Amino acid sequence: MLAGKRVLLIVSGGIAAYKALELVRLLRRAGAGVRCVLTAGGAQFVTALSLQALSEEKVHTALFSLTDESEMGHIELSRSADLLVVAPASADILAKMAAGIADDLASTLLLATDKPVLAAPAMNVRMWLHPATQANMASLRARGVAVVGPEEGAMACNEFGPGRLAEPPVILATIGRLLGQAGPLAGRHVLVTSGPTHEPIDPVRYLANRSSGRQGHAIAGALAACGARVTLVCGPVAIADPPGVGVRRVETATEMLVACEAALPADVAVCAAAVADWHVANAADRKLKKRPGAGPPTLDLAPNPDILATLSRPGPSRPRLVVGFAAETEDVRRNAAEKLARKGCDWIVANDVSPASGIMGGEENAVLLITAQGEEAWPRLPKQQVAERLAARIAEALGQ
Ligand code: CTP
Repeated sequence: MLAGKRVLLIVSGGIAAYKALELVRLLRRAGAGVRCVLTAGGAQFVTALSLQALSEEKVHTALFSLTDESEMGHIELSRSADLLVVAPASADILAKMAAGIADDLASTLLLATDKPVLAAPAMNVRMWLHPATQANMASLRARGVAVVGPEEGAMACNEFGPGRLAEPPVILATIGRLLGQAGPLAGRHVLVTSGPTHEPIDPVRYLANRSSGRQGHAIAGALAACGARVTLVCGPVAIADPPGVGVRRVETATEMLVACEAALPADVAVCAAAVADWHVANAADRKLKKRPGAGPPTLDLAPNPDILATLSRPGPSRPRLVVGFAAETEDVRRNAAEKLARKGCDWIVANDVSPASGIMGGEENAVLLITAQGEEAWPRLPKQQVAERLAARIAEALGQ
């Protein structure tokens, strides 16, 4: 995907520097040449040796190095790549970039370059939200510096909020876009459902389930990173929107179906939402009150539309590939195979959601992929990696 392209990767200080190693690996796998520059701060977290081993190129650290300067001057180095990527970009290096300070090799290269620059900030949430950092970001953006992330979530410093380095595959996809490379799903439209649905009981109460939306959101992000135009129809979730994805927020199963049908045509549909099977037919339009002497209210449940089965129905607007999920607590293989047949979808991603598995609402997933060609049991992986594998499999299937 990036064959023949050259990236100069500047690794500045911060705990997220370890993820730069993964980024180098992904860039190399995508065919790019990578030359790394490690700042003094970055060297506190990762070694030049690791970067050198993964990039298979000399790592540069010093501005006033006689040997480095004789082999390749820093001005030449700043222009030797198609793109400069600062990942992680600390508050300090962003401030230097904004102010035009050149007091070490990395900041000098950033001032001397005539090539596009991508910054992937990573820092403590308060440092990120500080007006000084925000002002620096505004002036860098105004000067044309591209920015990816930071993402929101739990941080190494035990705080929560924006400040986490964007995931390496997301940085890779951004690099691909900046270098004008089309991903394997370019030109495709993919519809993804994610999260739970909320079925009202009255204006303040609802029926719900434990789905966090993490897996569906990660899939939407991974498909976008492969170049697809992604429409994500999601129920109420407490996680950030995946980058580069069009999001339609809904609450109930019926609203989810309407939003999905409105998003058609699509080449692929991935139904990862944990849709409630029933809604409350006698939902009250005022808050239910306890009445002395009266017993608890009775809820009349009525079936919800099955979105996956509806999208799988043969017809001109049926996506070419429809992927369902099977959340099971027992007999995963048999129930999932039966679900594939009953819903009429093409693939089923089955997973064990029994409380002991820790999958529902957790960070990892262990899936069994059932396709017309047979079954594949994937190892237990972070949900992000499950998403990337699934996106890659979808790209492969559409390419056939
Ligand atoms: N699904 C859907 N609409 C529904 C129910 C489920 O689109 N009303 C989709 C889910 O997004 C998932 C698949 O169907 O892709 C299977 O969901 P799951 O909850 O495992 O199965 P159910 O159909 O609810 O069957 P059961 O409750 O019997 O396990």
